[in-house]
Amino acid sequence: MSRVQRLLEELSNAHGPSGSEGPVRSIVMREMAPIADELAPDGMGSLIARLGDKDGSPRVMLTAHMDEVGLMVRYVTPEGFVKFQGLGGMLDQALINQRWVIATRKGPVLGVTGIKTTHVMSMESRNQLFRREQMFIDVGATNKQDAEERLGIQPGDPIAPDSAFTVLNGSKLYVGKAWDDRAGVGVMIEVMRSLRERPAQGTVYAAATVQEEVGLRGAHTSTFMVQPDIGINLESGVAGDYPGTNMDEAQEKLGQGPGLFLHDSSMLPNLRLRDFIMDTAKEIGIPVQFNVLSGYGQDGSEMQKSSGGIPVINLTVPTRYLHSHYSLMHRDDFDRAVTLTAEVVRRMDGDMVARLKRFD
Ligand code: CO
Repeated sequence: MSRVQRLLEELSNAHGPSGSEGPVRSIVMREMAPIADELAPDGMGSLIARLGDKDGSPRVMLTAHMDEVGLMVRYVTPEGFVKFQGLGGMLDQALINQRWVIATRKGPVLGVTGIKTTHVMSMESRNQLFRREQMFIDVGATNKQDAEERLGIQPGDPIAPDSAFTVLNGSKLYVGKAWDDRAGVGVMIEVMRSLRERPAQGTVYAAATVQEEVGLRGAHTSTFMVQPDIGINLESGVAGDYPGTNMDEAQEKLGQGPGLFLHDSSMLPNLRLRDFIMDTAKEIGIPVQFNVLSGYGQDGSEMQKSSGGIPVINLTVPTRYLHSHYSLMHRDDFDRAVTLTAEVVRRMDGDMVARLKRFD
C-alpha cells in the first residue's frame, strides 16, 4: 500500500466532528512537523503551517477543514439511551442504523442508531420518514447511571460516524467517511510536501481549520492570523455522476480531474484566478472540471472577505455521497489536485497577485 493511500485511510477513519478535531489535528501535526518552518494552532484549534520566510511575498494561503459532520450528546435517558444534537448537515435518513463512536473522557464508546423493527410497525409508519428527534443511540448501557459512570458519557461529548476506509473492488475509488474534507486535508499536506522540495516564490500558509461544518468558524480566525494576499480552499467537490442526479444540480464526475467551483452559496471566485489555474493545468496536462452549485458553503469565502478582499477559489476532489458514512473519491483526482495546486502556488508571484486584483 502506498504512503499516500495509508495517509488517506488514516485521515478518513479519524474521528473529528466539529469542535472535536483533535485526532485529525494530531495527524496533520505529525505530517506537517518535518515540512513546515513554523507550525502552531490558533486560539480555536485550527493548525497553521508556514513554509518560507515570514516576510516573504506574496502570502499564499491554503485552507482545508479537519472537522466532519457528526452529532453531539444532548442527554442520556433514564433507560441509558443517548439523545443527540446534530453537528452539520446530515439527512435524517442517513442517521438510521449506523455505527457511531462517542468520544468520552473515559475513551471511545461504540453505539448504534436503532429504530423500531418493521415487525411491529404500522403500514402507515413504514412509509413515513423517521425524524432525528425520534432517534437515539444505543450504547448497551443498563440505565443512565451506567452510561454516565461506567462509560463516561456526558452531555456535549462528540459523536462521530464510524466506518472503515476501503478500496472499492480493485478500482481507484476510495470508500470512506469524511472525505469532506479529509480529501482536502490530504491534498494540503501533499502540496506542502511538494513545495518543501521545490519551493514557491513567496510564503505559503496551510491552515487545517476547525468547525467548518457549523459555519466556517475556524477559517475566520485562522485567516485573521495569516492575513493572506491570495487564497485557495481545498475541498471535497460534489459529483453529479450517479443515478438520480443531473447536470443542473452538480457537474463534477469522478476520475475526470480536480474541480473548480464557479458558484456556491458562500462565494464567487476570482475569474482571473480561474483562468490562471486553467492555463497552468493545460500546460502541465491536467484535466479540470467546473462546478456551479446552488447551495454549499466553504472556507474560501472567509479568506475572500479578509484583508480588504482577496482573490480566492475553491479547488476540489470530486466526491459522491457527501455527509454520510460512505463517500467515494477517485485516487487520480486526488493526485492531480495535488500536482495542480502545487504548481499554481509555485507560479504565483507578486505581479500575478497584482494582476488578479486589478479591476479595469
Ligand atoms: Co467541506
